[in-house]
Amino acid sequence: MKIAFFDTHGFEKIIFQKANEQFHHEITFFETRLNEQSAHLASGYACVCAFVNDRLNTQTLEILQKAGTQLIALRSAGFNHVDLVSAQSLRLPIVRVPEYSPYAIAEHAMTLILSLNRKIHRAYNRVRENNFSLEGLVGFDLNQKTVGLIGTGKIGSVMAKILNGFGCRVIAYDIVQNQKLIEMGVQYVSLEELLKNSDIISLHVPLTPQTRYLIDEKSLSLTKSGFMLINTGRGALIDARALIKSLKSGHIGYAGLDVYEEEEGLFFEDLSEKILQDDKLARLLTFPNVLLTSHQGFLTKEALENIARVTLENISDFENGKELKNEVFKPKNGIQK
Ligand code: NAI
Repeated sequence: MKIAFFDTHGFEKIIFQKANEQFHHEITFFETRLNEQSAHLASGYACVCAFVNDRLNTQTLEILQKAGTQLIALRSAGFNHVDLVSAQSLRLPIVRVPEYSPYAIAEHAMTLILSLNRKIHRAYNRVRENNFSLEGLVGFDLNQKTVGLIGTGKIGSVMAKILNGFGCRVIAYDIVQNQKLIEMGVQYVSLEELLKNSDIISLHVPLTPQTRYLIDEKSLSLTKSGFMLINTGRGALIDARALIKSLKSGHIGYAGLDVYEEEEGLFFEDLSEKILQDDKLARLLTFPNVLLTSHQGFLTKEALENIARVTLENISDFENGKELKNEVFKPKNGIQK
């Protein structure tokens, strides 16, 4: 199948080319992100392959459909960047990679917790300048600390197991309870209880109208002073303005963020020669107790290989008229799963 591959990065191109040796699709790699301005590039391609910061709004989808696109293959688990209602009315099926390595993201969330706690980001810079002082580097034992997981799906479940190994008390909030986690000792509580009792809170829910700004001024007011907030879910789960306000007041003790509300156009790019125009991001980068990574939770060899294989398999299934097992449907009652 002819595939227009948008927002191509060096780290994935080689892996997709290798995986495609088994599938024999005809792939053209475009570096530009997909949006209403660039959608015309897909003219004549039956399939469009998109990533998390491509903008698949009504306008983009209409241009694609008119230009002959028959399938949108997302090489991500999340699909909050696609207007599903428009896709459905344009009869454009959307497929995704629902699971490629929950370990990659959970392990990254754990990396953020450990690095922030033991101040590795600061210690690294310090010793490189021959500053071997330990002042300001005191951490805390994770053993016996209460960690609140918001979302215990694939990634949240792995996170619960990792935290169990560290001797943490794991509490969780989810609309669906996972029996295996309960047997492991995880205790499901209300969102309010989780916010009030957690020393660390880690977000693992998808971005939906229900979860947008789940962490805002009101929910932050319930949290423990000095708590640690980790977000490897989606940026808009947190209201960045409320986060900055709480960090400035000293209420939030630590924040580890792999995602940011306005990351489109920033994350995945080398902007080291440019002036950063996003004032909220610029402010976040000034806090010594904030550790930011640019959406790299998924970035392991195993995850990338799985993403490439499943994406190309999804496209072959469509081409061969098979059932699309990874199709994304318009959410019923506004709830996305
Ligand atoms: P999943 O679908 O397995 O789990 C999501 C969980 O959230 C489910 O248990 C669901 O019941 C729960 N949930 C949904 N809406 C809720 C609500 N309103 N209130 C409470 N719980 C709710 O998804 P998975 O694979 O664990 O991924 C979670 C999220 O992680 C993805 O949606 C994506 O946004 C993000 N992600 C981030 C990556 C990164 O590189 N940083 C990579 C992959 C995913």
